Amino acid sequence: MMRAIVAASLVAPACYYASAPATGEVPGGTDAQIASTEFPCEVAQVLATCWNCHTNPPKGGAPIPLTTRAELAAASSLGGTYAERALIRMRDTAKPMPPTGFPRPDAAGIDAFAAWVQSGMPMGSCEGVPGGGGVAPTVCSSGQKFPAVFDDGSPDMNPGLPCRACHLREEEDEARFFMGTVYPTLHEEDRCYSDVPTGTRVEIIDRNGVVALTLPVRPRGNFMSNSFNANVTLPFTARVVSPTGDVMQMTTPQMSGDCNGCHTEQGANGAPGRILLPSN
Ligand code: HEC
Ligand code: HEC
Ligand code: HEC
Repeated sequence: MMRAIVAASLVAPACYYASAPATGEVPGGTDAQIASTEFPCEVAQVLATCWNCHTNPPKGGAPIPLTTRAELAAASSLGGTYAERALIRMRDTAKPMPPTGFPRPDAAGIDAFAAWVQSGMPMGSCEGVPGGGGVAPTVCSSGQKFPAVFDDGSPDMNPGLPCRACHLREEEDEARFFMGTVYPTLHEEDRCYSDVPTGTRVEIIDRNGVVALTLPVRPRGNFMSNSFNANVTLPFTARVVSPTGDVMQMTTPQMSGDCNGCHTEQGANGAPGRILLPSN
């Protein structure tokens, strides 16, 4: 059913669709082999949470890849190996890895990782864990997708797709400068409706560090500013604030307000994936 909808929309006359993958699904763990030939399963499962950023090349501001045993065995400039640093940072409550708000391994997983480091980091294999510094599996958490029409004139249209790029081609009047979608997990499928609590907002911070715009996020995830022009001093940074005051922050300054252009299913231009709803 979902597959049929996706296929139907591919015939829409927009350039974007021409380059989009044939389905919203990841081709069954193509890069899982990288993991499976390097790490035993309990270690690969822990590292899969790191592979939202510590890929090769790294994303999300991470400085190093952690995709092979050799990369983990390499010496850190902070002393010890990167595997030892990994363990320290996973247990660091002040500066945790993964950073606050991103999916993290459980305590049993971290203990298994510690035992693996202590026993000399034996190579292993694991078939079941996707990632490995490659393609992460995608989901549609809400189970609901934007229907198979090109546009429905609704502000909830085309969630997850680069809004402004399409509007500049198809509907310049609606090419507002800041547009995007907030999601509950990092790798949500294109056109999947989100599910966001009322009161969630995106704050655009200008180059002087001042919150210049506050954009309400719609229950189905989309947000947008009112104007074709930025009307803030660029470059900007941004953060998502939940109704309870939790925050997900982008610290890298940007010039483009077409948020989903970088916050794709897998993440492009160094973004780790979707714009995340803050959770804790
Ligand atoms: C959302 C992106 C992200 C995820 C996910 C992530 N990291 Fe990082 N990592 C970073 C960033 C950014 C830095 C550099 C800033 C810092 O050190 O805090 C970093 C730095 C590091 C460093 C080098 C600095 C040091 O203290 O030695 C290690 C080691 C590390 N991360 C381990 C991990 C491990 C292990 C995981 C998974 C359990 C993980 N990271 C998950 C973004 C991420
Ligand atoms: C495939 C191209 C395409 C994409 C991608 C797209 N739009 Fe649109 N959008 C359109 C077109 C065409 C219209 C004009 C529709 C109309 O007036 O019926 C439009 C109109 C709109 C409008 C005006 C609706 C109204 O009330 O008149 C809003 C708001 C909007 N889009 C938001 C978004 C957001 C937010 C995104 C990204 C999450 C997005 N769009 C992505 C093509 C697109
Ligand atoms: C040109 C690419 C690009 C654009 C455009 C962009 N971002 Fe980002 N974003 C990144 C990169 C790279 C990171 C990771 C480094 C960092 O956190 O600064 C990131 C991280 C984030 C994060 C924290 C991690 C996450 O996945 O949630 C948030 C929140 C965020 N961006 C929000 C936004 C919003 C809101 C917009 C649009 C107003 C936007 N971004 C536009 C590249 C981009």
